Amino acid sequence: MKNAVDSLGTDWGRTKESVFFLLLFAFLHALFRYGGRLGFLLASRDIEGAVREEFFRGIIRARVDEVRDFSSGDLLARGTSDVSSFWLFIGPGLLTLVSAGFTFLIGIFFMVKISAKLTLILLSAIPPVVFVARVFARRLYRGHRRVRELVGKVSEVASSSVTGIRVIRSYLMEETLEERFSRISGDLRDAVVSTQSMSALFHGTLTLATGVGTLFLIFIGGRDVLSGDLTVGGFVAFVSYIGMLSFPSIALGWVLNLFQRAKASLSRMEEVTALAGIEERGEGASPHGRIETLEVRNLSFSYLENSRPVLRGVSFSLRRGEVVGLAGETGSGKTTLVAILLGFLRPDEGEILVNGRRVREEEWPWIRERIRAVFQDPFLFSETVFSNISFPVDDPRPERVVASAVTASIHDEIESFPEGYGTLVGERGITLSGGQKQRMTIARALLPDWDILVLDDAFASVDSLAEERIFSSLLDLLGDRTLLVVSQRVQTLSRCHRILVLHEGRIVEEGTFGELIQRGGIFSLHYEREKIREGLS
Ligand SMILES: Nc1ncnc2c1ncn2[C@@H]1O[C@H](COP(=O)(O)OP(=O)(O)OP(=O)(O)O)[C@@H](O)[C@H]1O
Ligand SMILES: [Mg+2]
Repeated sequence: MKNAVDSLGTDWGRTKESVFFLLLFAFLHALFRYGGRLGFLLASRDIEGAVREEFFRGIIRARVDEVRDFSSGDLLARGTSDVSSFWLFIGPGLLTLVSAGFTFLIGIFFMVKISAKLTLILLSAIPPVVFVARVFARRLYRGHRRVRELVGKVSEVASSSVTGIRVIRSYLMEETLEERFSRISGDLRDAVVSTQSMSALFHGTLTLATGVGTLFLIFIGGRDVLSGDLTVGGFVAFVSYIGMLSFPSIALGWVLNLFQRAKASLSRMEEVTALAGIEERGEGASPHGRIETLEVRNLSFSYLENSRPVLRGVSFSLRRGEVVGLAGETGSGKTTLVAILLGFLRPDEGEILVNGRRVREEEWPWIRERIRAVFQDPFLFSETVFSNISFPVDDPRPERVVASAVTASIHDEIESFPEGYGTLVGERGITLSGGQKQRMTIARALLPDWDILVLDDAFASVDSLAEERIFSSLLDLLGDRTLLVVSQRVQTLSRCHRILVLHEGRIVEEGTFGELIQRGGIFSLHYEREKIREGLS
C-alpha cells in the first residue's frame, strides 16, 4: 500500500504492479476467509450431528427405568434447542474466538515494535479482565442452566397438552392450561432477560474498561511523546492499534456468553448420553442359546429407595413347553415382574437364571431377543399396519405377517381398513380402537422367533369370546415353547398348566387351577367373584 501511494504519478509501471498485487492479496484474503469459514462451519455441523446422534443413542440405549425420569417434552428440548445452543459456540463462537485471537496477537506484535512499555501496561489489564470474566462466567452458567431447564418445561407442558388434548377439552381445562403455560413461559422470559442483562453488564464492563484503558494509554503515550521517547507517528499508530483491539474485547464478552450457554446445554445432554448402558449386543450367538428354563430366585424390588417394596421374595420357574398364568389384583406387581423378566428393571435382591446360569448384565439383549412380550399399554408407531407388525424381523414375508394377524384375530379388520395392510396408523393415520391396538401388538410379538412369550394383560381390551379364540390359536402354535400369561379371566387361567398368584408383591399361591380352587384361598375367592360376574353378563 505504501509503495502504491508513494509511486503514484511518478512510476506508472510500479503503480500497476502494486495495484495488481493489492488485488491479488484482496482476492486471496477473501478466498481464505470464505474457505476458512466454510470449513469451520461444516466441521462444527459435523460435530453437532455427532452430538445429536450420541444424544439419541443415550435415549434409545438407556435403561428403561432411568430414561423415564425425563419427560418426553424435556428430552425433546434437550435433543433440539440444547444441541443448537451447543453448536452456536462450537461454530460461530469458536470462529469468532479464533479470529479475535489472531487480531489480538497481530495487534500486540505491532504494538511491541512501537513501544514495549505501553504494550506491557496494556497487557497488565488482562489478569483483572480474566478475574471479572470468571465471576460473570459462573453467573452466566447458572442463568443459562435455568433458562435451558425452563425451555424443557415449556416443551413438556406443550407436548403433554397435545397428547392429553381430549382430557383437556372434556374437562374444560383450556384456561387452566393456558395459565400454567403462560406462567412457565413468563418464568422463561424472566430467566432469559436476567441472563441477557448479566451478559450485557459484562459487555458494558469490558467496554468501559477498554475506554478507560485507552485514555490512560493516551495519557502515558502523550507524555512519552513529549519526553521524546516515542515519535508522533508511533503514538498515532499505537492508538489506532488499540482501536483494533476493541474487536477482541467485545468478541470475548459475546463468546463467553455463548460458551456458558453451550456448557449448560452440554451438561444437560450429558445427563442423557450418560444413560446409555453397557447393554450392547455383541456379535455372535447367544451365550445361553435356546431358553430351556427361566428361574427367578428370591426377587425383591422397590421403585424408590426406602419405599415399600413392590415385589418381595418372589421365586418361581418357567420350563420349556409350560403355559403359566400370573394372577393377582391390580397393583400387586405383575407388570413390574414382567419388566424385571425382560431386564428393564434390576431387582434390589435376588437373581434371574437362564438354563441354570445367572444372567450377567451384558447378556440381557440376548435374553430379551428370546423372550417376546406384549405389554399392557399397546404402542404402535405412526407407520403402516404392515410395518408395525413386521418390524421385529429383518426381511418380513407378507404371508407370515398375515398368519400372525390371523392368529391374533385382527386380519379381517385390517383387510377392511381403507388400504389394508398399507394403512397408516397412529398420529398421522387412522385411530385404532383399544382392542385393535392390543391385537396388533399380539400379532407383532408372534412374528419373530422366540422361546418365551409373555402377555401382560394383553386381552384386557378385547371381549372374553375374542380372548378365548386368540388364546386357543396361541396354544395351537406354541409347540414346545413357553407362555406366561397375565390375565384376570378365569377362562384363560383355567387352561394354564400352572397358576402363580401374586398378592401385595408376594407369590401367595401356586398350583394347577383345580388345586387352587380346592385350597379355598385368594384365588378361589377371585374365581367365585369372576364366576358371578360372567354369569351376570
Ligand atoms: N414407575 C413406577 N414408579 C413408582 N411406582 C410404580 C411404578 N410403576 C408401578 N409402580 C407401583 O408399583 C405397584 C405395582 O404396579 P404394577 O404395575 O406392577 O401392578 P400390576 O399388578 O401390573 O397392576 P395392574 O393389574 O393394574 O396392571 C403399584 O403400586 C404401582 O403404583
Ligand atoms: Mg399391570
